[in-house]
Amino acid sequence: MEDWHGLGRAFNKFINEHPVPGELKGLYEPINYILRLGGKRIRPVLCLMANELFDGNEQQAMKAALAVEYFHNFTLIHDDIMDEAPLRRGQKTVHEKWDRDTAILSGDALFVKVYQKLEDISSVHLPFVLKVFNQTAIEVCEGQQLDMDFEDIAPDKLSLDRYIEMIRLKTAVLLGCSLKIGAILANASEEDTENIYQFGLNLGIAFQIQDDYLDAFANSEAFGKQLGGDIIANKKTFLLLKAYEKANDDDREQLNMLLQSSAESDLKVERMMTLFQKLDIEKSTRECMLAYHTLALEALDQIDATQEKKQSLLDLAKSLLVRAN
Ligand code: IPE
Ligand code: IPE
Ligand code: MG
Ligand code: MG
Ligand code: MG
Repeated sequence: MEDWHGLGRAFNKFINEHPVPGELKGLYEPINYILRLGGKRIRPVLCLMANELFDGNEQQAMKAALAVEYFHNFTLIHDDIMDEAPLRRGQKTVHEKWDRDTAILSGDALFVKVYQKLEDISSVHLPFVLKVFNQTAIEVCEGQQLDMDFEDIAPDKLSLDRYIEMIRLKTAVLLGCSLKIGAILANASEEDTENIYQFGLNLGIAFQIQDDYLDAFANSEAFGKQLGGDIIANKKTFLLLKAYEKANDDDREQLNMLLQSSAESDLKVERMMTLFQKLDIEKSTRECMLAYHTLALEALDQIDATQEKKQSLLDLAKSLLVRAN
């Protein structure tokens, strides 16, 4: 199997050459705009890799791969409205380039496009695919609601456990679902299907922790989002909750002040970063990510397939640990 960047590139090419068709510019331009902005294409690649791991039919898997990438992009359009984010993949977000109403409706239409892709899946597999997809989609909504609820809850009323539950829902389940659908389409055993889901879930938790880290500490152009956006929005990220856990009384007072402050956003970000650095949050983040990465590898290990066949998933998992965007 190709390396995952190769697969991601091939998938990118396909999506660019097959825009979502439709006459109404106001509705379809924003959809094709976000789909063509690129991105890492991790979810479709996971779906294709799981399908290949269990010797499935690539054409069928491709339809599901498109469906999960459409769903992901729909969540991004709406997430950027909710997070008031100006940048996505290095370009203006849909609601900034057009407006909020356009972003809401083109997001809705893209969500329906997911189901239109799934229509083409064989009737043997479709009920199983729909079941895991629908469960995942509702869990992502629950995760996004928790993410917003947490903005207004004081960090000392939250815990890292509740944070992990929130990111499991908003991010990790979709990685698990992408893999699971690939496995279902390849008629993998129930046990292998569950193990590949667990692999994706733990990988996804590590992935979101890295996403939180990059939101504050990314240091290359490739990041493509507003740096410090989570700090400005008082998001209860891994970094912030860990900082509260490690803080002494003085630090905690400063953290509280910063959360309540109406300081210029640049200043707030700068001060928060200084505290994160003082408390060596980078090291704690790394440790926690590695712990979930290890859990992911343990689940992959349980799967009944040769090491050689698992190599591409292993390589993908490893490269996510050092990603820059
Ligand atoms: C961003 O996902 C949203 C999260 C769940 C963290 P990605 O980091 O996969 O975004 P793209 O698709 O590569 O741009
Ligand atoms: C996004 O989490 C999760 C979903 C899109 C469902 P974030 O809000 O952290 O994602 P980014 O950082 O905007 O990509
Ligand atoms: Mg966001
Ligand atoms: Mg968000
Ligand atoms: Mg983020």
